[in-house]
Amino acid sequence: ATSARAQGSAFAFQPIGIATDFDIHVPQGYQWKTLVRWGDALFSDAEGAYSPQNGVPSDLSDRVFGENTDGMETFVDGDKIILAINSEYANPKINLPADADGVPQSADQVQMLKNIQGVTVLEVADQGDGYQVVVDSPYTRRITHETQMIMDGPANGSELMRTNADPEGMSPKGTMNNCGSGKTLWGTYLTCEENFNGYFGVTGEREATEGEARYGIGGEGRYAYEKFDARFDLSKEPNEPNRHGWVTEINPLDPQSTPVKHTALGRFKHENAEMVQANDGRIVVYMGDDERGEFMYKYVSNGTWAEGQPTDGLLSDGTLYVAKFNDDMSGEWLPLTPETTGMDMAQMLVFARMAGSKVGATTMDRPEWIAANPLRVEAYCALTNNKNRGVKPNAGGDETPVSGPNPRETNNFGQIVRWRPAGEDHGATDFTWDLYVMAGNPTVYDNKYAGSDNVNEGNMFNSPDGMAFSSDGMLWIQTDGDDSNEEQFEGQGNNQMLVGDPETGEIARFLTAPNGAEVTGLTWSPDRKVAFVGIQHPGGSWPDNAGKPRSSVISVWREDGATIG
Ligand code: FEO
Ligand code: CA
Ligand code: CA
Ligand code: CA
Repeated sequence: ATSARAQGSAFAFQPIGIATDFDIHVPQGYQWKTLVRWGDALFSDAEGAYSPQNGVPSDLSDRVFGENTDGMETFVDGDKIILAINSEYANPKINLPADADGVPQSADQVQMLKNIQGVTVLEVADQGDGYQVVVDSPYTRRITHETQMIMDGPANGSELMRTNADPEGMSPKGTMNNCGSGKTLWGTYLTCEENFNGYFGVTGEREATEGEARYGIGGEGRYAYEKFDARFDLSKEPNEPNRHGWVTEINPLDPQSTPVKHTALGRFKHENAEMVQANDGRIVVYMGDDERGEFMYKYVSNGTWAEGQPTDGLLSDGTLYVAKFNDDMSGEWLPLTPETTGMDMAQMLVFARMAGSKVGATTMDRPEWIAANPLRVEAYCALTNNKNRGVKPNAGGDETPVSGPNPRETNNFGQIVRWRPAGEDHGATDFTWDLYVMAGNPTVYDNKYAGSDNVNEGNMFNSPDGMAFSSDGMLWIQTDGDDSNEEQFEGQGNNQMLVGDPETGEIARFLTAPNGAEVTGLTWSPDRKVAFVGIQHPGGSWPDNAGKPRSSVISVWREDGATIG
């Protein structure tokens, strides 16, 4: 498949230009369609539930695909293909009746908002045109803010976890703000709880504690849940937020299974979870905390694993590390333990940010997705941007000087840092690092805001966010940035998906999103002939061309049936 390959390019497609419209664009020879939109029925009793005027009624809101699609992964069970897909948040200005003005007015409306977030497990079937959702599949499942879960790891059952409804502190309900994803080596789904703080509010007078302040917890909840459900009222349930902000494991092949929140992996605003293996068989999970001035983490299990062996304890018994980057391009993973932090295990994991500050971790320009190269021992993290260096987003954070892989004072473009562990072993605590790309605008600037050498007029972008490697070792980059196409962003157009060659640094634009949308979430059919791509918070009335905008997962495939890329 070299016919369309540009001279000297690693990619078998002609890169596309920017777009500023309310449509999707893909390279010549490719097609796309919407696979599933917010409000589409997952069960036949919800056919027709969505209306362009009113959205989805409360009583069917957990029978349809959720809003604001994000991370997703593919699973295979015999000849069945299953996708697990996050719905990150709800947009009440779109979902609620116009007279609510974006604020729920009843418990019923709160219920609807809760139901259209969380995780969807669905089956897709290949009918030769980019797959279709199988309605009423036995695998279909919605996991919402109300789904019963369990926890494991050192913070499970600690005093910090106890609530009126759960005095043992071991049975939390719900997963929320499900941002990026991960897949375990044993074939389960990891959903990552990001901006959980915004779901909790205060109905009475109450000062935020130091730990709450570091996570931005307190004040008014963004969905007014606290007015209708005491679980979300900090005045009544101060420990409820401690039960969120975790990496949660779901078995998408067993609809009866109970999701597990893994406290050993630390509590912060999780972006995604990239699992790899140390050379000795231990499990390694790389994770970013997406907030200005927060940190990058990795978890290493104590136990080892090989195909077919039990997985007990692998995500509940291990060590959490936080990254320190040095200006000489070296770095190290600093262990968080009671000895290094002076905190007890439960405190240290629930308030991992404070633990990271105690050991001197490097403050970063918003760590979003981390992706590990399947063909060599290295990993990449999208540092999306940092508009307010020096301004601490939450009380108690550290100073955020220009340092290491965060080299620019004001950083509206973002960069991707790459690290290579010592001894080609993800279990090592030392690494070297470089910048794979520093985004910028070479048509506006001729200084460091022009970006690195692999950025040019034909491929420029800002705010890298989603990232995933395809099995052929190419790095796919999705953006969530400024799509005004004006001033410093002129010539960058709408948000987009690009692909990068790790060896040469070449980057090519593959897809552009409708104006207003970010591109987030990427997975493939098992034969890599179809890519599933998430389009979140589109503008206009995409994709229906009338009524409300609907976040959707789209399918992209090559007309000649060859693999993608
Ligand atoms: Fe949900 Fe940091 O993106
Ligand atoms: Ca993101
Ligand atoms: Ca983002
Ligand atoms: Ca988002």
